[in-house]
Amino acid sequence: MKKTIMLRVNREEPEIGKIRVAADVIRRGGLVAFPTETVYGLGADALNRKAVARIYAAKKRPLDNPIIVHVASEEVYKLSETVPETANKLIDSFWPGPLTLVLKASETVPRATTGGLDTVAVRMPSLKVALALIRESKTPIAAPSANLSGRPSPTTAEHVKQDLFGRIDVILDAGPTKVGVESTVLDLTVDPPQVLRPGGVPYEELKRTLGRVELHHVAVAERRIPVGRARSPGMKHRHYAPNAEIVVVEGRLDAAIRKVQELVDFHMRTGKKVGILATDESESHYRANVVKSLGSRNDLASTARNLFRLLREFDKEEVDIVIAEGVATKGLGLAVMNRLRKASGFNIVKAEQHD
Ligand code: TXA
Ligand code: MG
Repeated sequence: MKKTIMLRVNREEPEIGKIRVAADVIRRGGLVAFPTETVYGLGADALNRKAVARIYAAKKRPLDNPIIVHVASEEVYKLSETVPETANKLIDSFWPGPLTLVLKASETVPRATTGGLDTVAVRMPSLKVALALIRESKTPIAAPSANLSGRPSPTTAEHVKQDLFGRIDVILDAGPTKVGVESTVLDLTVDPPQVLRPGGVPYEELKRTLGRVELHHVAVAERRIPVGRARSPGMKHRHYAPNAEIVVVEGRLDAAIRKVQELVDFHMRTGKKVGILATDESESHYRANVVKSLGSRNDLASTARNLFRLLREFDKEEVDIVIAEGVATKGLGLAVMNRLRKASGFNIVKAEQHD
């Protein structure tokens, strides 16, 4: 077991001494978990093949699932020699921030980082702690979410500790993350550009900036789709899976509430411990062993912020099954529903209107 050092850092004014301790670990090929505005990442020197191999080992991540490279400036030309005009437009509008761009990779990027692909995913995070770490490391940082493969992404340092303590060198703790779901992954190697994973930058905003942009059908799937040789291999791995079984109920709120309670009653009669993932608007209507609210339907950003934490909490309470209400697939709700549907293994029930 490795010795894992936990360091608390100030989110607004990161203490440079602490950042340097972590940067030193990165420079020597070690692993540092650090906060970003989306979720915590598990970082290593993106240009060091051996360091990147350690990320896969620590997370138990499938080797064909490529890793996002994090940069601290808008300078991406070292990582990709063919940066299209659309990339510059997007970088101007959304960096630093939760938008990852998939570009043709240059020779500099080890294929260990790209999971063997000839493309590279790049993003510039906006959290000061992340930017300071990248700058002090003097190298781009490869970082997937800092969870064990198959677990919900970490939105606090405590979540990282639960999964990776003893497996990595440093955890930088700057409190809970702001966005709560991962970045939007946008493929710019195809025309029109395609959203491979909905995330922190809503599709509607990309559309406003680009005009032409598509959602990859797997990213918005409501059932399991065979993906074959997926352009984004993350699509085909089971993700965000808590221990409990999850059922997602979608449909108009009044019908959904009736359906959720019907399913809960059924499972409770069979002796199961049942959880409900409700919303602020519906929470008080329910009876179950555990009821938690994702946030308000009128504030989808709040549902994004709470989702992964609540999935972990249900695990902790050892519920056997969670019945989850769906939310609208607009704004950040699209990312929330993508994660929730995947976590359920596409166990989706449509609530019907009876009147
Ligand atoms: O917000 C985020 O994106 C967080 C923070 C730490 O930055 N990172 C993150 O990384 O969520 P990860 O590894 O958990 O998810 C990266 C996703 C995966 O679905 C992966 O398949 C896809 O991005 N990806 C990475 N490189 C790619 C590439 N070259 N082509 C297509 N998809 C790629
Ligand atoms: Mg991940």
